Amino acid sequence: MNVLIIGSGGREHALAWKAARSPRLTKLYIAPGNAGTSSCGENVAVDIHDHDAVIHFCRRKQIDLVIVGPEMPLAGGLVDSLSAEGIHSFGPKQAAAQIEASKVFAKDFMTRHYIQTARYAAFTHLEEAIRYLKSVDRPIVIKASGLAAGKGVILPGTFEEAKSTLENIFVERTFGDAGNQVVIEERLSGQEVSLMAFTDGITIVPMLPAQDHKRLLDGDEGPNTGGMGAYAPAPVFTKAMMKEALETVLKPAIHGMRMEGNPFVGVLYAGLILTGAGLSVLEFNCRFGDPETQAVLPLLETDLLDIAEACVNQTLADVDIRWRNGAAVCVVLAGKGYPEKAESGRMIEFAPLPENAVCFHAGTKPENDRVLTSGGRVLGLTAWAGDIASAIDTVYSNVTKVSFDGMNYRRDIGQRALEGLK
Ligand code: AMP
Ligand code: GLY
Repeated sequence: MNVLIIGSGGREHALAWKAARSPRLTKLYIAPGNAGTSSCGENVAVDIHDHDAVIHFCRRKQIDLVIVGPEMPLAGGLVDSLSAEGIHSFGPKQAAAQIEASKVFAKDFMTRHYIQTARYAAFTHLEEAIRYLKSVDRPIVIKASGLAAGKGVILPGTFEEAKSTLENIFVERTFGDAGNQVVIEERLSGQEVSLMAFTDGITIVPMLPAQDHKRLLDGDEGPNTGGMGAYAPAPVFTKAMMKEALETVLKPAIHGMRMEGNPFVGVLYAGLILTGAGLSVLEFNCRFGDPETQAVLPLLETDLLDIAEACVNQTLADVDIRWRNGAAVCVVLAGKGYPEKAESGRMIEFAPLPENAVCFHAGTKPENDRVLTSGGRVLGLTAWAGDIASAIDTVYSNVTKVSFDGMNYRRDIGQRALEGLK
């Protein structure tokens, strides 16, 4: 198979790394990729927002399968354009990608299909939103409805803060058109679990449950980030919870999308929160999570290309998806200044890693023979082992194998799993 992966982050390096292990792979391309993906295949400078350019590339290179990583091209209808040309693509079409691209759509969809989620109201005008704010006496969360690169969710501490957040969104237009609609919802508390599932639109196969670490500093302190690390499986998510999530979240969502004429093919990501009153959906994403994918894929035994192809061909029920025993941990190595404004252009040095570890690149770029930092989250050092304690041990004992000026990382990725096991 000739395969094209779309994207350039840590998630895409993990996808490329896994695809490169497939005996069915002939040639792998990554558009645009990063300094790490070039060790798995060939990086190509195709503009992923230019659908004609992607189609032309696929024809020229006889691509058998396209795997789309990020939400932007999915929400932009890349899979629709490729499918119209008969090019097999793993990922939802535009109408199905709304489950992530419009939080108002997602919330209304969950209501229509009785999927448990925080109570909410949606607004298109500042005055109405403020009037609503005055009427609620409980902690709330404000969300820009559209795609905001992971920054569109605000947890205001006071009424004044909530009011100025709404002003920023509606008047200053901090999130641009992504803030045309705003969701205000009840704030829930509990542990969060990222549950991703492969689906061909009918059959649903959940992956191992993972936990992300969104705050910058140890102990879940400091500002929110795109994710400072992840581990899988998450012991807090019991077998009973997995069953409940399958029956009350994943199945109704996938069936609901199909019933509404928008069959969902690809990876459905349910961001769950385990509240005292049961599990509730915080968000759906229409793609693999980042950095969850970096922790989940090393544990996947089955060939990723077999799975992706079966999703596209609606034969997922025929694939036996197997996972390794044990656990994996991914620690994000971020650049100085992240998440505010990260430096770039720092040289990265690498020493060899053991066989059960891999360093996934995210914000890196090759320059001559060197690899330079080029974004906030630079690398995702990942290790897997027979249990979570050994995986944590391996990842942290190898962290000195990678270095660049200003490198920052959390020291407590996966600790929550250990605490849960006590
Ligand atoms: P989202 O992009 O909707 O997942 O939101 C990002 C993060 O904001 C989540 O992972 C939670 O940590 C937090 N969050 C979102 N919605 C809520 C909520 N209703 N209650 C508490 N925290 C939330
Ligand atoms: N880790 C959160 C996300 O991928 O959206």
